[in-house]
Amino acid sequence: MQESLIVEEFANAGYQVSPDAVALIGSYSAPDTIVSKVLQSLDDSVLVVEREHLNLDGVRIPEKPADKLAEKLAEKLSKPADAPAVNILSDISNKSTCVGEYSEFVRYFRDRYTRLSGIIRGRITARPIESLRARHSGREYDSISIIGMVSDVRTTSNGNKLMEIEDPTGSFPMLVRPSDRDIWAIASGIIHDEVIGVTGSLTRDGHLMIVKSIVLPDLPNRYNQTLPDGGRGVNGSEHGNGDGAAGCAALISDVHIGSDTFLEGAFSDFIDWLGDGSLPVQYLIIAGDLVDGVGIYPGQESELEIPDVYDQYRSAAEYLGRVPKNIRIIIAPGNHDAVRLAEPQPVLPEKIRSMFSDDVIFTGNPALVEIRGVRILIYHGRSMDDLIATIPKMSYQRPELVMIEMLRRRHLAPMYGGRVSIAPENSDHFVIDRVPHILHCGHVHTIGIDRYKGVTVVNSGTWQSQTDFQKRMNLDPVPAHATIVDLATLGTRMVKFA
Ligand SMILES: [Fe+2]
Repeated sequence: MQESLIVEEFANAGYQVSPDAVALIGSYSAPDTIVSKVLQSLDDSVLVVEREHLNLDGVRIPEKPADKLAEKLAEKLSKPADAPAVNILSDISNKSTCVGEYSEFVRYFRDRYTRLSGIIRGRITARPIESLRARHSGREYDSISIIGMVSDVRTTSNGNKLMEIEDPTGSFPMLVRPSDRDIWAIASGIIHDEVIGVTGSLTRDGHLMIVKSIVLPDLPNRYNQTLPDGGRGVNGSEHGNGDGAAGCAALISDVHIGSDTFLEGAFSDFIDWLGDGSLPVQYLIIAGDLVDGVGIYPGQESELEIPDVYDQYRSAAEYLGRVPKNIRIIIAPGNHDAVRLAEPQPVLPEKIRSMFSDDVIFTGNPALVEIRGVRILIYHGRSMDDLIATIPKMSYQRPELVMIEMLRRRHLAPMYGGRVSIAPENSDHFVIDRVPHILHCGHVHTIGIDRYKGVTVVNSGTWQSQTDFQKRMNLDPVPAHATIVDLATLGTRMVKFA
């Protein structure tokens, strides 16, 4: 077990772990056994697992010679006080197991159903779909509820919405009449493969359910997030007026270094601005498409300033090398990056990571990270192409509304078989189990900031001017902006560099 995996194991269980403890665990020949024993022995009062928490009495595992790797890792994890820490709470990297077999898809969708239906189950009392098939006579079935995945949804010639809903026991057709306006409006936004709760009554013949209400997994109505710094905030931020102890995070995405439309001057100004100390920025978080990549779309080669993808990353590393050392950089990949296209995407390969400073943190896509007690869900946002094409009133000009749709569905990429190619991993990495404080996306090259039930949603635009492709598609990018989030208040401000 690599030392980084030790950190990850503890992070997955909700603990931080000290470099000392990692080094000690790593010095044993079966560190995974030690990790599970330690996890069993911890109580709720422990936040950071220290050496003294490792009660290894009775663990009869031969010690292996202290290895250099453990020392090196411990050294790397002992960050100087001015380089703030990052906890990666969830990320596919090093955990991908799928090869694309049928059984894996079944398991993947079961996992999605189980977790999302679990969220809905707190709000309605649902019965298995197979029980609807039992013979019955009208009355007792006036108000019944089921929870299922939407396998089909369409509008009939007379304006009804007809949905087929499926759970592990069977599937059933549901009808929403246009006269039930509110429900009909909700049903119009329902998309394939999302998990919903439905309450309704059965028709006399027992073959159809007339829908009375639809429940999405959604966020709790009163989601009371305790702000990590007590909400004191940074002087001058939109909502803050305190001492700024928690500092700020700069959120950007879609830099597209290597493209001939990359706005070199504006990006360079941004990097300089990070160093001028006008705001206490401690983190720079990049939500994918750091470079333009190669072979992403037909004819891309004629729009590249830097034709070699490794040279593109070298250039990116030079820019980011100018970021002050006290700012922690986090990089997640997007669909233009040099990593598998199927999502969830793992971290960039070592050959690329090694071009950057040791302090840079690479995550997969999506990834849930925690900084200063603030959970940030980073997702590049490829699914927005599908959601915009399918859900009424969604548009590329209002990416924040699309992101709110993700939160309502507690899922980052609900539709299968669209633009997002989804790898059927053991578990569905797109399910939003732990509610983040911030959802940070990119991909669409437009800006949107909003707040939904206690979650700050940010789409941070791009550093690329309009490409020929976007011109043809009538897409108007909003380039050269950084979103600065106050980590104490979650208040945001936009800084323009042009
Ligand atoms: Fe993208």
